[in-house]
Amino acid sequence: MKLIAPSLLAADFLNLGNACNMINNSCADWLHLDIMDGIFVPNISFGFPVMEAIAPVCRKPLDVHLMITHPEKYAQRFCDAGAYSVGFHLEAVENPDETLQIIRKRGVHTCLTINPDIDVERLRPHISKVDMVLLMSVFAGYGGQKFIEKTYDRIYQLRNIMNQEGFHPMIEIDGGVNTNNAAKLFDAGADILVAGTAVFGAENPDQIIRMMKQ
Ligand code: DX5
Ligand code: ZN
Repeated sequence: MKLIAPSLLAADFLNLGNACNMINNSCADWLHLDIMDGIFVPNISFGFPVMEAIAPVCRKPLDVHLMITHPEKYAQRFCDAGAYSVGFHLEAVENPDETLQIIRKRGVHTCLTINPDIDVERLRPHISKVDMVLLMSVFAGYGGQKFIEKTYDRIYQLRNIMNQEGFHPMIEIDGGVNTNNAAKLFDAGADILVAGTAVFGAENPDQIIRMMKQ
């Protein structure tokens, strides 16, 4: 699969309606929503009011990326606000099962995420329980960072683990994705690429999304 999920974090926040229209009319597959709490990551982005305003307008599936502590407290509300998928960080919880269950119970797709410094092996016990795994290709917290090259090796490592375990959740990559690395990431085995700056910073976002898919 070759899907592109533009990240709203890089949109013009004075004109979120325009951003949604652009996404609706583009060949973007999903819209990625970065939720930050200022505790798990050193930044605060946006939360329920923004998501609730966007959900009725956006015709693309909403891919929620929680960069928060205690995702078990908030996951249900993001599901109810219209999420297609809800992901949270493995390193933010002691045991992901409770949060995964909350998300699954609402009929929403589950995703487990890890930062670039977390051993991919730590995902192994959870591969069978999730719809998607998100490997961060920058440290969570900010848009516009430089892509970390060792991500390719981490994708191969993750695919090995998936083959050994016999489960194949989708692989999502997030951070510093652009037209220079998209093809290589898909070739390495990524299914979904998140791109903020590369899409919303472009003069012609739809063209950039198309180029990333090719
Ligand atoms: C980083 C976020 C990313 C970010 C991607 O914490 O999870 O989704 O918005 O932005 P770019 O594509 O600019 O790196
Ligand atoms: Zn993200």
